[in-house]
Amino acid sequence: MDLDQLLERAVEARKNSYSPYSKFPVGAAVLTRGGKIYTGCNVENAAYGLTICAETSAVIKAVSEGSQDIVAVAVVADTEDVCRPCGSCRQVILEFGDEIVIIMGNLKGDKETKNIKELIPLGFS
Ligand code: THU
Repeated sequence: MDLDQLLERAVEARKNSYSPYSKFPVGAAVLTRGGKIYTGCNVENAAYGLTICAETSAVIKAVSEGSQDIVAVAVVADTEDVCRPCGSCRQVILEFGDEIVIIMGNLKGDKETKNIKELIPLGFS
């Protein structure tokens, strides 16, 4: 599994987004050390604060199905620049390893790769 393929899975997962309020669909995909993939999308709520981000949705799916060994997370949205994870999602990802690779993309095919520690230096752990 290469990281471009992981980004492609995030693009597919984005199609399941439930985002009637923001109208900003986001897709994510988690890769585990064993090669499993878990996808996620943002799921909004009429009580806006209950919204679940795409990256958090994918991480929770992985962990709740027994996969904590996360090696990479891809995130994508229809943005001018690449879509970068919000602060909460960075903290959620950091919980499962400070070596996790984050692949950020958009629908135009731009992409950027960073380590989670670069995205959340001095994070709480
Ligand atoms: N969103 C994500 O899914 N991931 C992020 O990292 C940032 C924001 C979602 C939440 C909300 O449904 C929409 O994007 C607009 O904020």
